[in-house]
Amino acid sequence: MDAIVVDGGRPLTGTVRVGGAKNSALKLMAAALLAPGVTTLRNVPDISDVAVMAQVLERLGAHVTRTDHTLTIDATTLTSHEAPYDLVVQMRASTCVLGALIGRVGRAHVAMPGGCNIGSRKVDIHIAGLEHLGVTISTEHGYIDASGPAHGARVALDFPSVGATENLLMASVLADGETVIDNAAREPEITDLAAMLNEMGASIAGAGTPTIMVTGVAALSAVDHTVVGDRIEAGTYLVAGALDSGPVTVTGFDPAHLDIVLQKLEHMGCLVVRSADAVTISREGPIRPVDIQTLPFPGFPTDLQAAFMALLSLADGGAVITENVFENRFIFADEIARMGADIRIDGHYALVRGVPALSGAPVRSPDLRGGAALVLAGLVAEGRTVVTDVHHIDRGYEGFVEKLRCLGAAVNRIDISDPDAAQSPSGGANA
Ligand code: UD1
Repeated sequence: MDAIVVDGGRPLTGTVRVGGAKNSALKLMAAALLAPGVTTLRNVPDISDVAVMAQVLERLGAHVTRTDHTLTIDATTLTSHEAPYDLVVQMRASTCVLGALIGRVGRAHVAMPGGCNIGSRKVDIHIAGLEHLGVTISTEHGYIDASGPAHGARVALDFPSVGATENLLMASVLADGETVIDNAAREPEITDLAAMLNEMGASIAGAGTPTIMVTGVAALSAVDHTVVGDRIEAGTYLVAGALDSGPVTVTGFDPAHLDIVLQKLEHMGCLVVRSADAVTISREGPIRPVDIQTLPFPGFPTDLQAAFMALLSLADGGAVITENVFENRFIFADEIARMGADIRIDGHYALVRGVPALSGAPVRSPDLRGGAALVLAGLVAEGRTVVTDVHHIDRGYEGFVEKLRCLGAAVNRIDISDPDAAQSPSGGANA
């Protein structure tokens, strides 16, 4: 029953370092299943989604240990090919063991993930792609039952789905023959996965482009790999810097992975200074309204849509956000409206009319990214904001409160079942 309490209006300045990308680490953990032996993953964020994925791997017979930000995964012997519902329901991304299990043991029994609070999130593209590779799939009693082995083939995805591209990559690296994935996702996390698989001995070309070619190999071996920096975590802190005037420096990621986001921030009136693995943001004038349209990479990431909605809520005019990736990703709008934002939703469009100020309010995290965006809104709102359901934020942000406090924010995490804690000041860099 934790909540994050934010007292708005403290200036934000300083440097924050992001961790490894959640969306990469989870898939690299699954990829470790492909090699008998001990895989070492470095720069793994300490977040609850990683803990759930570790449990999934343990259920399959792997042994996972963590020391700080390093995970070792011993997948010498697998004892099961089932990812059960009780774990998949906690984290949809656990379905990425499907491709790895087909590659390693030729069988997988994985619970259907169902929908979630940002949309129905089907797996039809994963299933159609695997069937193209010759995998027999049935969906019964809430489970996807898959039997291989996979054989190389040409597969064209209906949509450049991140998860489907990853499952197909992992299913095809040990398949006989050549696989071509057309209309593949191009996210940096796909490139990171392909890089690790190639280090393991796979033969993958074209990752990061719409056409990925995989030549199957006989075996893979365990490696030591460092997870790519989290561009979405970085974008979150950059929006914090843009909401306030900064300067805020975010390190530990590749600015090229946020290119369109940084361009939007510049168009909104921010000064953005890029270096090899860091960006510094500051702003002097008002926030200028700029339209946003989410798209698969290299388009604007849907995972930063809510943070930008918070930013546009305080812009000097109106802007349209078009959500093209998930059908239900505007629930955040209802929560930030409680803080005085003026947002009108029509289908997958949101018209955000800037208001002069937001006012602190009790609000509820609708999902991972929406929860973080509510805390960002609280940083610049008048008075106190109390964000509940913070377990969503814990899924993807390590030390969120601590990192914001380092920037000077008056933010605190409290147990709301304790009435004394709810009344206490939220602290800050000097608290
Ligand atoms: C991943 C990321 C998520 C990010 C998303 C888009 C992880 C753990 N999560 O999710 O943070 O927001 O990419 O960048 O990496 N779809 C289908 N059928 C399918 C597969 C997908 O209709 O078989 C639809 C989904 O419902 C969604 C869209 O395609 O509307 C994008 O999904 P996808 O790219 O697969 O995202 P995820 O891999 O689930």
